[in-house]
Amino acid sequence: MTIVARPSVGASLLGGSIVLPPNPCLHPPARPVRPWTGEPGTAGRVAVVGAGKMGLPLAVQFARHGWDVTAVDIDAAVVAAVNAGRSLVEEEPGLADGVAEVHHAGRLRATSDAAAAARGADVAVLIVPVMLDDAEQPDRRAMDAAVAALGPGVHAGLTVIFETTLPVGDTRNRYAPRLEAAGGLRVEDDLFVAFSPERLYSGAVFRNLATYPKLVGGVGPRSTERAARFYDSVLDAEIVAMSGSEAAEFSKLADTTYRDVNIALANEFARYADRVGVDVQEVIAAANSQPYSHIHQPGIGVGGHCIPVYPHLMLSGAPDLELVALSRRVNDGQVGLAIKALEVALGGLEGVPVLVIGLTYREGVKELAYSRALPLIDRLRFHGAVVSAYDPLLDPQETSRCCAAAYRWGEPGPFRAIVAQTADPRFRELDFELFPDLAVLYDGRDSLREVALPERVTYLGVGVQAGTRRRAPLPVGATAGA
Ligand SMILES: NC(=O)c1ccc[n+]([C@@H]2O[C@H](COP(=O)([O-])OP(=O)(O)OC[C@H]3O[C@@H](n4cnc5c(N)ncnc54)[C@H](O)[C@@H]3O)[C@@H](O)[C@H]2O)c1
Repeated sequence: MTIVARPSVGASLLGGSIVLPPNPCLHPPARPVRPWTGEPGTAGRVAVVGAGKMGLPLAVQFARHGWDVTAVDIDAAVVAAVNAGRSLVEEEPGLADGVAEVHHAGRLRATSDAAAAARGADVAVLIVPVMLDDAEQPDRRAMDAAVAALGPGVHAGLTVIFETTLPVGDTRNRYAPRLEAAGGLRVEDDLFVAFSPERLYSGAVFRNLATYPKLVGGVGPRSTERAARFYDSVLDAEIVAMSGSEAAEFSKLADTTYRDVNIALANEFARYADRVGVDVQEVIAAANSQPYSHIHQPGIGVGGHCIPVYPHLMLSGAPDLELVALSRRVNDGQVGLAIKALEVALGGLEGVPVLVIGLTYREGVKELAYSRALPLIDRLRFHGAVVSAYDPLLDPQETSRCCAAAYRWGEPGPFRAIVAQTADPRFRELDFELFPDLAVLYDGRDSLREVALPERVTYLGVGVQAGTRRRAPLPVGATAGA
C-alpha cells in the first residue's frame, strides 16, 4: 500500500521462488465520495470495460474495496450473468463467490451501455482483448470499439486506464486524442489517461492481485498520480508510479517477451540435449541452482493470448528486433519437431490413429486462443494421421467443433501415438491397457515422465529421450544414470 518509484522485490526473484506471499489488506473501510478526486481513504465509481477472465476479477476486487462498480460488456450473456450475481468464467478460484458477494452487497452491476457507464464513473478501466490479425499485426478492433463506445460519456474529471497490453505509444498517440476529442477535453487538465498493464495469471488472479506490484504510467504526471491513487485504494500490493505510459506499456512487453525468448533458449537446449543424449530437465534444474540462472521450461510450443502475442506487438513497431523474431520462430517450430519425432518413431503418419490430449493453451484454463494444439492437429492431419482429441475442460461437442473427433475418457482406442499438449494431472492416470496398439507417448510438457509404460510404448519428451528419462528425482548421493 505504498507508492514507490521502483519495485522493491525484484532481486529476490533471480533464480529463486516466484511464489510471493500475498500482502494483507490494510485498507480501512473507504468513505464513498462524489466526485472522487484521488483523496486517500475515499472510493468512487468505476466502470470496468470488458468483463472477461481478467475484467470480472478486477470488478470484484474494486467492489470489495468500497468502489461502486459497473461492468461493461458487449456480450449480452455476460451482462445478464453479472446482473444475476453469477460469473460465466468458471475456472478462476474465488471468482464465482466474489461476484455473488459484491453483487449481493449492491456494489456490482453490468450493462452494455459503455457511454452511460462512463458518464456515471470517476474511473474507467479498459480490459478488452487486443490480439493479432492474420498478418501478425495488432488487431485493435475491440479496443477501438470500446474507446468509441465510451466517447459520449467522457466528462471532466474522468480517469481512463488501459490495462489491456498495447503496443508502445498507443495510450498517448492513439487513444488519448480520441478521448480528448470525444469529450472536448484536454488530458492532464480535465481528463486523465494512463496505462497500467494487467499481469495476472489465470487461475491465481486474486492471489496475484495481492502480490504483484502494480505498474502505472500516465500520459503526464497528473494522470500517473490519479491512476496510482486509484490502484492504491483498491490493491494491497505496491503501486509503481512510472515515468510515463510508454514505460508502462514497454514493461509489459518486456516481461512477456523475455519469457518467450527464454523459452526459445530452453527449446534450443532441448534440441541440443537430444543430440548429446542427456535429459534437458536434469540440466535445467542443475543450471538453475546458480541463483543468476533462470532457464524456463522447454515444450511443444508457447500458447495462450499473452506470450505468443506480445512479442508481435513489439515487433509491429520494431521489426528489426532479431532475437525477438527468431524466438517466436523457434517456439512455433516445436510442433514441427514433435511431428518429425513421431514420424521417425512410427515410420510415417499416413493413416496412423493419433490421440492429442490437452487442447486448451494450458491446463486448467478454458481458452483455445493461440493453443498449440490447433497447429499440432492441422499438421498431424497434413501428414496423413487420423486425429482424435480430448480435453477435460471441453465437452465432446466443443472438442469436435474446435479440434478433432472427440475421444471419451476411459474408452478403448486404436491409437498408435498419444501426444500430451498440456500438463493436466489427470493424464497421469491414463490406462495404457485401453490402447493395445500404442507405440509412442509424446510428452509435450514434461508432465508424464513418472508414468509406468508397457514395454511396447516408447516415451518421447522435449529434450528427454526414451533412454535418459528419469522416473523420479535422484536420491541424495546417487550417481547419474537413467
Ligand atoms: N487472460 C489472461 O491470462 C491475461 C493475463 C494478463 C493480461 N491479460 C490482458 O487482458 C486482456 C483481456 O483478456 P481476457 O482474458 O480478460 O479476455 P476475455 O476474452 O476473457 O474477456 C474479454 C471480454 O471483453 C468483452 N469485449 C470485447 N470487446 C468489447 C467491447 N468493445 N466493449 C466491451 N466489452 C468487450 C468480451 O465480450 C469479453 O467478455 C488481454 O487482451 C490481455 O491484454 C489477459
